[in-house]
Amino acid sequence: MLQGGLPEGHIVVLMGSFGTGKTTMALQFLMEGLANDEHCIFISLEEDKDSVLKNAASFGWDLGDAISGKKLGLFKLEPSDAKTTITRIKSELPKFVKSFGAKRVVVDSISLLNMMFSDESERRTNLFNLSQLLRSTGATVILTAEVKDENPRSSRDGLAEYTADGVILLDSEENRDSGEVQLTVRVLKMRRTAHSRRVKPYSITGSGIVVHADADMF
Ligand SMILES: Nc1ncnc2c1ncn2[C@@H]1O[C@H](COP(=O)(O)OP(=O)(O)OP(=O)(O)O)[C@@H](O)[C@H]1O
Ligand SMILES: [Mg+2]
Repeated sequence: MLQGGLPEGHIVVLMGSFGTGKTTMALQFLMEGLANDEHCIFISLEEDKDSVLKNAASFGWDLGDAISGKKLGLFKLEPSDAKTTITRIKSELPKFVKSFGAKRVVVDSISLLNMMFSDESERRTNLFNLSQLLRSTGATVILTAEVKDENPRSSRDGLAEYTADGVILLDSEENRDSGEVQLTVRVLKMRRTAHSRRVKPYSITGSGIVVHADADMF
């Protein structure tokens, strides 16, 4: 669908409703990096470290060795501690990504980070700054985002899709006859890529996300 994966250096928003597999797909993106011997960073604002480790383990991904071998940096930032978190991200993150030599970075989720700001213009400025900072590191970045309840094609803040180089939407369709729910993925935006615009079904399996590229929804 992406003509060979996420373009290097892109900042990509991975958005979807709860439980659609955002965290799983983001972890899988890092697992692929680790398999290629790339250094990776996972910044969690949602689940604590232990929960991320358990999630990964449920797919057979053992992150322990990568963490102790300094190949993977796994960090939990506290949304309740907004001021410190923002200051740390601004002052330490770019330096850290560079010194760690990270080629892949995940922020899970950008929606929680955005919630730290009370007004829209502050939120916009911060997101723009963060995108600039991340872009300057040269790493390929996935920012997960929650969607609006009333419009599942737009992120909760409706901001990240504009600053990002790419947007991937995880969604679901219910078959009215069978009542079965099928998870679907589509690429809404990927700068400099002749990406597919098809809606493809995917499954979350015991070994991660599998996109059924040969099947079509429509
Ligand atoms: N080991 C597993 N095998 C198969 N499916 C799993 C497994 N672990 C989780 N799932 C499925 O994945 C879903 C959760 O995926 P994930 O946590 O990646 O979603 P998310 O979009 O990040 O959710 P949230 O918005 O709550 O953070 C579960 O609800 C379950 O359906
Ligand atoms: Mg999640």
